Amino acid sequence: MGSKNVMELFSLKGRNAIVTGGGQGLGKAMAIALAQAGADIIIAARRIETALETQKIIEAEGVKCTVIKGDMRNEDDIKRMVAQVMDEYGKIDILVNNAGIWRGDDAEKVTTEDWKEVIDVNLTGPFIVSREVGNIMLKQGKGSIINVASMSGIIVNTPQNQCAYNASKGGLIMLTRSMATEWATRGVRVNALCPGYIRTEMSEDRYRRKDPAIERWFSMTPMARSGRTDELMGIAVYLASDASSFVTGAMILVDGGYTAW
Ligand SMILES: NC(=O)c1ccc[n+]([C@@H]2O[C@H](COP(=O)([O-])OP(=O)(O)OC[C@H]3O[C@@H](n4cnc5c(N)ncnc54)[C@H](O)[C@@H]3O)[C@@H](O)[C@H]2O)c1
Repeated sequence: MGSKNVMELFSLKGRNAIVTGGGQGLGKAMAIALAQAGADIIIAARRIETALETQKIIEAEGVKCTVIKGDMRNEDDIKRMVAQVMDEYGKIDILVNNAGIWRGDDAEKVTTEDWKEVIDVNLTGPFIVSREVGNIMLKQGKGSIINVASMSGIIVNTPQNQCAYNASKGGLIMLTRSMATEWATRGVRVNALCPGYIRTEMSEDRYRRKDPAIERWFSMTPMARSGRTDELMGIAVYLASDASSFVTGAMILVDGGYTAW
């Protein structure tokens, strides 16, 4: 037993965190959580208006919040974003690769254009951001990267077909494990957070039109409901903080038990 205090282990005071796509949905909830634990937040977002609203909520937590406009699959935007963070803060402690998109269709109908877009945003983007930020964290000898993958990286969802999305998230899990093992002795931890069905803008349209798929999802989920965005808050702080100092290359499922059945 050490003499550490568990609440201090969860504290992010004096640290900063980049959250890509942090203006809404899961990214917003996780950004607020990290701010409540004491971290300054940088939101890297395509849609600036939504991000500026979230910025106000985060600043009300008493921390600094910077919004940087950028497309997180575009290498120039990513490099400019990282340079701006280094100019303003001189370091990067936490990175949450959260920006992502969903496209669904039967595999035989998926266009090459849609396939490439999903892989670009959900896999190539997080790779480039992690490489750029990883180089800084390796120099610092410390950092925590959280890749928002999905249970779709390890199971095939039903009834909706979504091969590109599933492949992108499966790839992100293997990218997580690869970077985690390469950087494990150099102070940089990399973990995958794998949510199940959480009600956000990504699926809101299905909920509004009472898509029968929702009933199917619930019937396959032991908790028989979708998750709320606030149910990602605790795990984000855990993975970002020293509370998870021996955790790297992990795949943490937050899915109401979906993958247990
Ligand atoms: N909601 C779910 O059920 C669920 C389940 C598992 C995993 N996820 C993952 O969680 C993450 C967040 O999803 P969400 O449900 O909050 O969706 P969302 O659509 O509400 O939010 C996604 C955010 O990413 C941003 N974004 C998309 N492409 C971008 C790009 N190229 N550059 C910068 N920002 C970009 C969007 O503008 C938006 O702010 C995604 O990676 C998603 O795949 C969601």
